[in-house]
Amino acid sequence: MKILFPASPLNDRQPDESYAEEYEAARQSGFAVGLIHLEELLLNQDADRAVRRLPVEENPVECLYRGWMLKPYEYEQLDNALRKRHLHLMNSPESYRHVHYLPESYRHISAYTPASVWLPIREITSSFEEVYEAIRPFGEQPIIVKDYVKSRKHEWLDACYIPNAADREQVKRVVQNFLDRQGEELNEGLVFRQFVELEFLEHHERSGMPLSREIRVFVWEGRPMYVSTYWSAGRDEEFDEVLGQFAQVMASIQSRFFTMDFAKAKNGPWIVLELGDGQTAGLPDDADAVEFYGNLYRAVGGEG
Ligand SMILES: Nc1ncnc2c1ncn2[C@@H]1O[C@H](COP(=O)(O)OP(=O)(O)O)[C@@H](O)[C@H]1O
Ligand SMILES: [Mg+2]
Repeated sequence: MKILFPASPLNDRQPDESYAEEYEAARQSGFAVGLIHLEELLLNQDADRAVRRLPVEENPVECLYRGWMLKPYEYEQLDNALRKRHLHLMNSPESYRHVHYLPESYRHISAYTPASVWLPIREITSSFEEVYEAIRPFGEQPIIVKDYVKSRKHEWLDACYIPNAADREQVKRVVQNFLDRQGEELNEGLVFRQFVELEFLEHHERSGMPLSREIRVFVWEGRPMYVSTYWSAGRDEEFDEVLGQFAQVMASIQSRFFTMDFAKAKNGPWIVLELGDGQTAGLPDDADAVEFYGNLYRAVGGEG
Protein backbone atom coordinates (compact mmCIF):
# COMPACT_ATOMS: atom_id res chain seq x y z
CA MET A 1 0.00 0.00 0.00
CA LYS A 2 1.34 3.38 -1.00
CA ILE A 3 0.01 6.57 0.59
CA LEU A 4 -0.25 9.62 -1.63
CA PHE A 5 -0.21 13.10 -0.11
CA PRO A 6 -0.61 16.55 -1.65
CA ALA A 7 2.73 18.15 -2.51
CA SER A 8 3.52 21.66 -1.40
CA PRO A 9 2.15 24.10 -4.02
CA LEU A 10 5.59 25.77 -3.92
CA ASN A 11 7.73 22.65 -4.22
CA ASP A 12 6.32 19.45 -5.66
CA ARG A 13 9.06 17.36 -4.03
CA GLN A 14 7.89 18.22 -0.53
CA PRO A 15 4.60 17.43 1.20
CA ASP A 16 2.07 20.20 1.67
CA GLU A 17 2.76 21.80 5.04
CA SER A 18 -0.66 20.71 6.32
CA TYR A 19 0.18 17.05 5.63
CA ALA A 20 3.88 17.07 6.55
CA GLU A 21 3.29 15.44 9.92
CA GLU A 22 1.08 12.72 8.43
CA TYR A 23 3.60 12.13 5.63
CA GLU A 24 6.37 11.50 8.15
CA ALA A 25 4.14 9.37 10.36
CA ALA A 26 3.04 7.23 7.40
CA ARG A 27 6.66 6.67 6.41
CA GLN A 28 7.70 5.85 9.96
CA SER A 29 4.87 3.34 10.21
CA GLY A 30 6.20 1.43 7.23
CA PHE A 31 4.14 2.76 4.33
CA ALA A 32 5.56 3.71 0.96
CA VAL A 33 4.63 7.35 0.30
CA GLY A 34 4.30 9.60 -2.74
CA LEU A 35 3.28 13.14 -3.64
CA ILE A 36 0.63 14.51 -5.97
CA HIS A 37 0.79 18.02 -7.39
CA LEU A 38 -2.85 18.72 -6.66
CA GLU A 39 -2.96 22.22 -8.16
CA GLU A 40 -2.46 20.64 -11.58
CA LEU A 41 -5.61 18.61 -11.00
CA LEU A 42 -7.74 21.21 -9.23
CA LEU A 43 -6.78 24.38 -11.10
CA ASN A 44 -5.57 23.09 -14.48
CA GLN A 45 -7.67 19.91 -14.76
CA ASP A 46 -4.46 18.11 -15.70
CA ALA A 47 -4.49 14.89 -13.69
CA ASP A 48 -1.60 13.36 -15.65
CA ARG A 49 0.64 16.26 -14.71
CA ALA A 50 -0.52 16.05 -11.11
CA VAL A 51 0.87 12.51 -10.78
CA ARG A 52 3.91 12.75 -13.04
CA ARG A 53 6.43 12.54 -10.17
CA LEU A 54 5.13 9.09 -9.23
CA PRO A 55 7.13 6.27 -10.81
CA VAL A 56 5.27 3.93 -13.14
CA GLU A 57 4.93 0.60 -11.36
CA GLU A 58 5.52 -2.71 -13.04
CA ASN A 59 2.76 -4.49 -11.15
CA PRO A 60 -0.46 -2.98 -9.76
CA VAL A 61 0.06 -1.13 -6.49
CA GLU A 62 -2.80 -0.19 -4.23
CA CYS A 63 -2.81 3.46 -3.13
CA LEU A 64 -4.54 5.44 -0.49
CA TYR A 65 -4.85 9.19 -0.96
CA ARG A 66 -4.64 11.36 2.17
CA GLY A 67 -5.40 14.95 1.27
CA TRP A 68 -7.94 17.68 0.70
CA MET A 69 -11.48 16.78 -0.26
CA LEU A 70 -11.97 16.26 -3.96
CA LYS A 71 -15.14 16.55 -5.97
CA PRO A 72 -16.17 13.08 -7.20
CA TYR A 73 -15.23 13.93 -10.80
CA GLU A 74 -11.79 15.10 -9.64
CA TYR A 75 -11.35 11.88 -7.70
CA GLU A 76 -12.22 9.95 -10.82
CA GLN A 77 -9.74 11.95 -12.92
CA LEU A 78 -7.07 11.27 -10.33
CA ASP A 79 -7.92 7.57 -10.34
CA ASN A 80 -7.68 7.42 -14.14
CA ALA A 81 -4.31 9.17 -14.20
CA LEU A 82 -2.94 6.92 -11.45
CA ARG A 83 -4.09 3.78 -13.25
CA LYS A 84 -1.89 4.65 -16.19
CA ARG A 85 1.00 4.23 -13.76
CA HIS A 86 -0.40 0.97 -12.32
CA LEU A 87 -1.47 2.76 -9.18
CA HIS A 88 -5.00 1.98 -7.93
CA LEU A 89 -6.90 4.07 -5.42
CA MET A 90 -8.24 1.77 -2.72
CA ASN A 91 -11.75 3.26 -2.89
CA SER A 92 -13.44 3.26 -6.27
CA PRO A 93 -14.90 6.56 -7.53
CA GLU A 94 -18.35 5.05 -6.83
CA SER A 95 -17.57 4.36 -3.20
CA TYR A 96 -15.95 7.78 -2.83
CA ARG A 97 -19.20 9.33 -3.97
CA HIS A 98 -21.28 7.01 -1.79
CA VAL A 99 -19.88 8.40 1.46
CA HIS A 100 -19.07 11.91 0.22
CA TYR A 101 -22.66 12.91 -0.62
CA LEU A 102 -25.12 12.51 2.23
CA PRO A 103 -28.08 11.65 -0.04
CA GLU A 104 -26.11 8.69 -1.46
CA SER A 105 -25.65 6.87 1.84
CA TYR A 106 -28.60 8.27 3.80
CA ARG A 107 -30.68 5.11 3.48
CA HIS A 108 -27.98 3.09 5.27
CA ILE A 109 -27.78 5.43 8.26
CA SER A 110 -31.33 6.77 8.39
CA ALA A 111 -32.21 4.87 11.60
CA TYR A 112 -29.35 6.56 13.46
CA THR A 113 -29.14 10.03 11.95
CA PRO A 114 -31.34 13.16 12.03
CA ALA A 115 -34.20 13.05 9.51
CA SER A 116 -33.03 14.72 6.31
CA VAL A 117 -34.38 15.93 2.98
CA TRP A 118 -32.51 17.32 -0.01
CA LEU A 119 -32.98 19.41 -3.10
CA PRO A 120 -30.66 19.37 -6.11
CA ILE A 121 -29.51 22.86 -7.06
CA ARG A 122 -31.32 22.82 -10.41
CA GLU A 123 -34.64 22.52 -8.55
CA ILE A 124 -34.17 25.67 -6.49
CA THR A 125 -35.74 28.87 -7.83
CA SER A 126 -35.48 32.40 -6.47
CA SER A 127 -38.99 32.20 -5.01
CA PHE A 128 -37.72 29.49 -2.63
CA GLU A 129 -41.07 27.68 -3.03
CA GLU A 130 -39.27 24.36 -3.58
CA VAL A 131 -37.31 24.90 -0.38
CA TYR A 132 -40.45 25.62 1.66
CA GLU A 133 -42.09 22.56 0.14
CA ALA A 134 -39.12 20.29 0.83
CA ILE A 135 -38.92 21.27 4.51
CA ARG A 136 -42.66 21.13 5.16
CA PRO A 137 -42.28 17.74 6.97
CA PHE A 138 -40.25 19.47 9.68
CA GLY A 139 -43.22 21.65 10.69
CA GLU A 140 -42.13 24.26 13.20
CA GLN A 141 -39.07 22.33 14.35
CA PRO A 142 -35.54 23.71 14.19
CA ILE A 143 -33.39 22.44 11.31
CA ILE A 144 -29.93 22.92 9.88
CA VAL A 145 -28.93 23.52 6.27
CA LYS A 146 -25.82 22.24 4.49
CA ASP A 147 -24.98 21.08 0.99
CA TYR A 148 -24.48 17.44 -0.03
CA VAL A 149 -21.04 17.55 1.63
CA LYS A 150 -20.38 20.52 3.89
CA SER A 151 -22.08 22.94 6.23
CA ARG A 152 -21.03 26.44 7.22
CA LYS A 153 -21.09 25.46 10.88
CA HIS A 154 -18.78 28.31 11.90
CA GLU A 155 -21.45 30.75 10.71
CA TRP A 156 -24.02 28.91 12.80
CA LEU A 157 -26.68 31.58 13.23
CA ASP A 158 -26.23 33.18 9.79
CA ALA A 159 -25.80 30.23 7.47
CA CYS A 160 -26.49 26.95 9.25
CA TYR A 161 -29.12 26.89 11.99
CA ILE A 162 -32.78 27.69 11.33
CA PRO A 163 -34.75 27.90 14.60
CA ASN A 164 -38.19 27.35 13.02
CA ALA A 165 -38.62 25.56 9.69
CA ALA A 166 -42.04 27.14 9.21
CA ASP A 167 -40.74 30.71 9.47
CA ARG A 168 -40.21 31.61 5.82
CA GLU A 169 -38.29 34.80 6.59
CA GLN A 170 -35.80 32.89 8.71
CA VAL A 171 -35.50 30.09 6.19
CA LYS A 172 -34.89 32.50 3.36
CA ARG A 173 -32.29 34.53 5.23
CA VAL A 174 -30.20 31.56 6.38
CA VAL A 175 -30.50 29.57 3.14
CA GLN A 176 -29.72 32.61 1.00
CA ASN A 177 -26.66 33.34 3.14
CA PHE A 178 -25.59 29.73 2.80
CA LEU A 179 -26.02 29.78 -0.99
CA ASP A 180 -24.26 33.15 -1.38
CA ARG A 181 -21.33 32.15 0.77
CA GLN A 182 -20.87 28.67 -0.74
CA GLY A 183 -21.04 30.31 -4.17
CA GLU A 184 -19.27 28.21 -6.78
CA GLU A 185 -18.19 25.78 -4.07
CA LEU A 186 -21.72 24.53 -3.45
CA ASN A 187 -21.79 20.74 -3.65
CA GLU A 188 -24.74 19.50 -5.72
CA GLY A 189 -27.65 20.91 -3.72
CA LEU A 190 -29.15 21.62 -0.32
CA VAL A 191 -29.67 19.22 2.55
CA PHE A 192 -32.01 20.08 5.41
CA ARG A 193 -31.74 18.12 8.63
CA GLN A 194 -33.77 17.97 11.78
CA PHE A 195 -31.85 19.81 14.50
CA VAL A 196 -31.07 17.56 17.45
CA GLU A 197 -29.94 19.22 20.63
CA LEU A 198 -26.50 17.82 21.37
CA GLU A 199 -24.63 17.54 24.61
CA PHE A 200 -22.70 20.79 24.95
CA LEU A 201 -18.94 20.87 25.48
CA GLU A 202 -17.78 24.48 25.09
CA HIS A 203 -17.72 27.34 22.59
CA HIS A 204 -15.23 27.25 19.71
CA GLU A 205 -12.34 29.55 20.61
CA ARG A 206 -12.34 31.32 17.22
CA SER A 207 -15.83 31.17 15.73
CA GLY A 208 -17.85 30.94 18.95
CA MET A 209 -19.82 28.00 17.56
CA PRO A 210 -21.20 25.75 20.30
CA LEU A 211 -19.08 22.58 20.34
CA SER A 212 -20.75 19.31 21.18
CA ARG A 213 -19.64 15.92 22.36
CA GLU A 214 -18.66 14.42 19.01
CA ILE A 215 -16.55 11.46 17.92
CA ARG A 216 -14.89 10.57 14.61
CA VAL A 217 -14.45 6.89 13.81
CA PHE A 218 -12.25 5.81 10.90
CA VAL A 219 -13.58 2.50 9.61
CA TRP A 220 -11.36 0.13 7.65
CA GLU A 221 -13.18 -2.71 5.86
CA GLY A 222 -16.17 -2.51 8.17
CA ARG A 223 -14.28 -2.27 11.46
CA PRO A 224 -13.25 0.74 13.58
CA MET A 225 -9.57 1.46 12.93
CA TYR A 226 -9.07 4.75 14.78
CA VAL A 227 -11.52 6.36 17.21
CA SER A 228 -11.13 9.84 18.59
CA THR A 229 -13.07 12.69 20.08
CA TYR A 230 -13.63 15.19 17.29
CA TRP A 231 -12.74 18.69 18.44
CA SER A 232 -9.48 17.65 20.07
CA ALA A 233 -7.96 14.20 20.16
CA GLY A 234 -8.87 11.87 23.01
CA ARG A 235 -11.23 9.08 23.95
CA ASP A 236 -14.76 9.09 25.34
CA GLU A 237 -15.23 6.05 27.52
CA GLU A 238 -19.01 6.10 27.31
CA PHE A 239 -18.84 6.15 23.55
CA ASP A 240 -16.33 3.30 23.50
CA GLU A 241 -18.92 1.21 25.35
CA VAL A 242 -21.65 1.73 22.74
CA LEU A 243 -19.45 1.62 19.63
CA GLY A 244 -20.12 -2.10 19.19
CA GLN A 245 -23.83 -1.39 18.64
CA PHE A 246 -22.94 0.27 15.34
CA ALA A 247 -21.05 -2.70 13.92
CA GLN A 248 -23.83 -3.62 11.52
CA VAL A 249 -24.39 -0.15 10.10
CA MET A 250 -20.64 0.29 9.67
CA ALA A 251 -20.41 -2.95 7.75
CA SER A 252 -23.31 -1.86 5.49
CA ILE A 253 -21.51 1.20 4.10
CA GLN A 254 -20.19 0.63 0.60
CA SER A 255 -16.67 1.84 1.18
CA ARG A 256 -13.47 0.14 2.34
CA PHE A 257 -12.29 3.22 4.23
CA PHE A 258 -14.59 5.91 5.55
CA THR A 259 -15.35 7.99 8.62
CA MET A 260 -18.52 7.90 10.65
CA ASP A 261 -19.04 10.94 12.87
CA PHE A 262 -21.13 10.59 16.00
CA ALA A 263 -22.60 13.01 18.52
CA LYS A 264 -24.31 12.54 21.85
CA ALA A 265 -27.88 13.83 21.86
CA LYS A 266 -28.70 15.77 25.02
CA ASN A 267 -30.45 13.30 27.32
CA GLY A 268 -30.55 10.90 24.38
CA PRO A 269 -28.59 8.32 22.42
CA TRP A 270 -25.44 8.61 20.35
CA ILE A 271 -26.43 9.54 16.80
CA VAL A 272 -24.61 9.47 13.47
CA LEU A 273 -23.93 12.96 12.11
CA GLU A 274 -22.28 12.25 8.80
CA LEU A 275 -19.99 9.99 6.79
CA GLY A 276 -16.89 10.94 4.85
CA ASP A 277 -14.26 9.19 2.77
CA GLY A 278 -11.43 8.06 5.06
CA GLN A 279 -8.91 9.43 2.59
CA THR A 280 -10.09 13.03 2.86
CA ALA A 281 -11.43 13.22 6.43
CA GLY A 282 -9.19 15.25 8.70
CA LEU A 283 -7.63 13.99 11.91
CA PRO A 284 -8.65 15.89 15.04
CA ASP A 285 -6.31 18.86 15.57
CA ASP A 286 -3.91 17.40 18.09
CA ALA A 287 -4.27 13.78 17.00
CA ASP A 288 -1.26 11.50 17.23
CA ALA A 289 -0.52 10.84 13.56
CA VAL A 290 1.92 8.05 14.45
CA GLU A 291 -0.85 6.20 16.27
CA PHE A 292 -3.23 6.72 13.34
CA TYR A 293 -0.81 5.39 10.72
CA GLY A 294 0.34 2.59 13.03
CA ASN A 295 -3.27 1.45 13.35
CA LEU A 296 -3.80 1.81 9.63
CA TYR A 297 -0.69 -0.22 8.87
CA ARG A 298 -1.91 -3.06 11.05
CA ALA A 299 -5.44 -2.86 9.59
CA VAL A 300 -4.13 -2.98 6.04
CA GLY A 301 -2.16 -6.09 6.91
CA GLY A 302 1.33 -4.79 7.31
CA GLU A 303 2.75 -4.67 3.81
CA GLY A 304 4.59 -1.46 2.92
N1 LIG B 1 -28.86 17.67 12.80
C1 LIG B 1 -28.07 18.32 13.63
N2 LIG B 1 -28.47 18.71 14.85
C2 LIG B 1 -27.64 19.38 15.67
N3 LIG B 1 -26.39 19.75 15.37
C3 LIG B 1 -25.92 19.40 14.17
C4 LIG B 1 -26.72 18.67 13.24
N4 LIG B 1 -25.99 18.46 12.13
C5 LIG B 1 -24.81 19.02 12.35
N5 LIG B 1 -24.75 19.59 13.57
C6 LIG B 1 -23.60 20.31 14.14
O1 LIG B 1 -22.99 21.03 13.08
C7 LIG B 1 -21.67 20.56 12.83
C8 LIG B 1 -21.44 20.47 11.33
O2 LIG B 1 -22.29 19.53 10.73
P1 LIG B 1 -21.75 18.43 9.73
O3 LIG B 1 -22.91 17.71 9.18
O4 LIG B 1 -20.71 17.61 10.41
O5 LIG B 1 -21.13 19.31 8.58
P2 LIG B 1 -19.64 19.51 8.06
O6 LIG B 1 -19.55 18.60 6.89
O7 LIG B 1 -19.54 20.93 7.69
O8 LIG B 1 -18.69 19.09 9.15
C9 LIG B 1 -21.59 19.20 13.51
O9 LIG B 1 -20.26 18.92 13.89
C10 LIG B 1 -22.53 19.37 14.68
O10 LIG B 1 -21.88 20.04 15.75
MG1 LIG C 1 -18.66 17.37 10.11
